Amino acid sequence: MLPSIYNPSETFTLGILGGGQLAKMIAQEAYKMGLRVAVIENGADSPAGVMTKLEFTDGWENEADLLAFIKASDMITLENEFIDPSILRRIGESRFVFPTAETMELVQDKFTQKTTFQHAGVPVPRFMEIQTKADLAKAAEEFGYPFMIKTRKYGYDGYGNYTVKRETEFDLVWRKFKEGETQRDLMAEEFVSFTKELAVMVARNKRGEIQVYPCVQTIQQGHICVTVIAPAQIPVEQQERAQQIAVQCVEAISGVGVFGVEMFLRDDGEIVFNEIAPRPHNSGHYTIEACYTSQFENCIRAVTNMPLGSAAMRVPAACMINLLGERTGSGIPDSVVEMLKVHDVSLHLYGKKDVRVGRKMGHLTATANTVDEAFQKANAALEKFVW
Ligand SMILES: Nc1ncnc2c1ncn2[C@@H]1O[C@H](COP(=O)(O)OP(=O)(O)OP(=O)(O)O)[C@@H](O)[C@H]1O
Ligand SMILES: [Mg+2]
Repeated sequence: MLPSIYNPSETFTLGILGGGQLAKMIAQEAYKMGLRVAVIENGADSPAGVMTKLEFTDGWENEADLLAFIKASDMITLENEFIDPSILRRIGESRFVFPTAETMELVQDKFTQKTTFQHAGVPVPRFMEIQTKADLAKAAEEFGYPFMIKTRKYGYDGYGNYTVKRETEFDLVWRKFKEGETQRDLMAEEFVSFTKELAVMVARNKRGEIQVYPCVQTIQQGHICVTVIAPAQIPVEQQERAQQIAVQCVEAISGVGVFGVEMFLRDDGEIVFNEIAPRPHNSGHYTIEACYTSQFENCIRAVTNMPLGSAAMRVPAACMINLLGERTGSGIPDSVVEMLKVHDVSLHLYGKKDVRVGRKMGHLTATANTVDEAFQKANAALEKFVW
């Protein structure tokens, strides 16, 4: 039997694979709960790396660094879904690691992921594997235009996606993904005509206990999530349907940890699955201020097999806005003074050294009595933020 691994009366170090903002926010909660944190990342002074003396800077591909990181950690979790499962298995020989290698194998590849959920009865858009250039014509025939091409692995912030609008784009698609330095495995997907994009966070521990967060609306611009509205302004039945799909997904992969499930609310009112992230998720950042237990705290509770905290909202409404880079250069903003004058808004800056256009540098969350009020407050603060 797997015990609750974390015992607050002893020192306990949670190792995190990855040192970005998600690792940083996991670490913040870990410290609150009396844990220590070890971080492994390529390079020093990552957002989470600067928080601990147990910082390993050569990355998990480096044998010696990986071994030292394992030795320093009592158990291990991750903030990044693209870790080779063989590395997770290696860690698993001497330490608990959640989510498991088996779960990660099912979700890392979007084609495998969609196939898994389709078999579990989750509604998914029509999709197919693309192996040859001729398959693009098959996809067009099957789905019509536009349709989506997605890299099966390593896509994020829409970087692995391409919307194909006409046949004359096939050459471009092939050059982009198949004839460059790195050949990418591809899949095609019907273009879903949706009214809203939704997301639900789910926490699940090894005992199978589950906490489901409210259904939120995510608003993307240029394939990057910019705003999250909690709760989503849709009928309760649709919110509950989204929560039900999210739980079904996490159970289908025996997920332990926290998981972000992205969905589309189709024009006809049906909800279909888009993708799952096996880690804290941008759409769940609002939970820090707006829920009884944040996604980061429940991540720790889940991977250490502790009882989960309530995922219910403790305020009526919240709005989260990402602070995306608007220039290149130093990651330190010019001024946050005017922004901090807006009340009921929390500022989170991740401490990234360099800014690039579109890079997630931080976020802010407004809480309020209504979604409209939260949206206005968050935007008022955003306007006053000066890079
Ligand atoms: N089949 C589809 N039909 C319509 N729009 C889609 C479809 N798939 C993706 N999109 C749009 O592209 C965005 C990014 O797609 P997806 O979530 O697959 O990419 P990602 O790069 O893995 O994700 P993320 O932006 O969450 O890191 C979606 O949020 C949605 O706006
Ligand atoms: Mg996505």
